[in-house]
Amino acid sequence: MSRKLLLAKDHVPGIRSYDVYRANGGYASVEKALKTMSPEAVTEEVKKSGLRGRGGAGFPTGMKWSFLAKPEGVPRYLVCNADESEPGTFKDRYLMERIPHLLVEGMITSSFALGANTSFIYIRGEYFYVSRILEQAIAEAYANGWLGKNILGSGYDLDLYVQVGAGAYICGEETALLESLEGKRGNPRIKPPFPAVEGLYRCPTVVNNVETIAAVVPIVNDGGEAYAAIGIGRSTGTKLISASGNINKPGVYEIELGLPVEEFLFSDEYCGGIANGKRLKACVPGGSSVPILPEYLVCKTATGDDRLMTYESLSDGGFATGSMLGSGGFIVYDENQCVVRNTWNFSRFYRHESCGQCSPCREGTGWMETVLRRLEKGMGNLDDIDLLVGVAKKIEGNTICPLGDAAAWPVAAAIRHFRHEFEYHVLHAEKVKDPKHGHKEPIMPVKPAPVVA
Ligand SMILES: Cc1cc2nc3c(=O)[nH]c(=O)nc-3n(C[C@H](O)[C@H](O)[C@H](O)COP(=O)(O)O)c2cc1C
Ligand code: SF4
Repeated sequence: MSRKLLLAKDHVPGIRSYDVYRANGGYASVEKALKTMSPEAVTEEVKKSGLRGRGGAGFPTGMKWSFLAKPEGVPRYLVCNADESEPGTFKDRYLMERIPHLLVEGMITSSFALGANTSFIYIRGEYFYVSRILEQAIAEAYANGWLGKNILGSGYDLDLYVQVGAGAYICGEETALLESLEGKRGNPRIKPPFPAVEGLYRCPTVVNNVETIAAVVPIVNDGGEAYAAIGIGRSTGTKLISASGNINKPGVYEIELGLPVEEFLFSDEYCGGIANGKRLKACVPGGSSVPILPEYLVCKTATGDDRLMTYESLSDGGFATGSMLGSGGFIVYDENQCVVRNTWNFSRFYRHESCGQCSPCREGTGWMETVLRRLEKGMGNLDDIDLLVGVAKKIEGNTICPLGDAAAWPVAAAIRHFRHEFEYHVLHAEKVKDPKHGHKEPIMPVKPAPVVA
């Protein structure tokens, strides 16, 4: 049974309310930090913990905090990224909905460490009802003296605001988020300067994911070393995983990093195996942006080692035979899933969400979606497969923000591991007479290719 640091109390009746949260040890990290620690000491604990950003990139949080510029007389900001729009990822929603005070507590402790007196939670528009839950929790925190002026008599002031976005995936990219927070169109900025130097209102800013900020609470309560003792190597602590697709028990799980993928996927404590007694075909382990793993690479690496739920093990073998932990959106495909159809579905999303600033992403996501659609509908030809690989290569690494890569990687990986399915869509498209127009049209959609043993 995995230790739980974030979701240990999520099933306590009424934990969403201040009174129950406080009665269960809530706000202890704020008390400890403000009464007994300096901001630098809090940052030091976060560094010791080895915590890595849970938004997807896995950048060490303590290091990010120590990059924050501290010019005299200039405000600093902490912005929580609650945009969570990556398909297959819903862990932040779960945390905010179930136990909103954990995020509020993490925001206060983290803002204190960073010397921020104004902080924001930027939440996607589709989570409007969650924004109301957070606002309620913030109001309770103000009413009980955890926010506002001179918190706990420490001389530290903090105001915390919730800002609801308009529902754009690109506003999860940290600089697009800052633009949106400033009231502008959410276009990513060219970096450098990085937000730590020039962020919100051109002031030094740290942007962190919901889960990252929540993890600061147990780190301060128990110490960075205790947190670092959980996990393996540079993958320390626990991680929330959003598990979805063809599994018996979809949901949000808190795991200790280092758990074998096989245990996560097949044990009753977590996903409970593939639904309806079907066979596993593939898995996208870190949200729609990361490469797909075929069945034989899900639980084992290419060298035959057990694949673990860690940043390192999931990327073992590079993109040739590995993938990424990403945002922890674990999407499972059974033998009846069509890889071409699912890849097309993802590519529709990226085409729609590209902000359009750079041509490789704007044009490339459009082309990939168009070609994938025609393959899926049985109207493609074999050359289309290499055309897709070529377009993906031209996008990768040539854009202002990583949305371009996020669109290209899944397509390239799907073809790398499932080329036979793309070919099947060309070779097995049945031609039938279109009753309306009289000419022959392919049946739509093409049935999934049979599983190759
Ligand atoms: C297109 C795009 C969408 C992103 N969406 C999110 C998101 O919804 N939530 C998030 O925390 N990070 C998201 N990120 C990553 C952020 O840019 C940033 O790295 C992260 O918020 C930093 O927090 P962390 O260090 O705590 O992970 C996204 C990045 C890109 C390129
Ligand atoms: S990569 Fe795409 S989403 Fe990112 S800035 Fe360029 S066009 Fe916009």
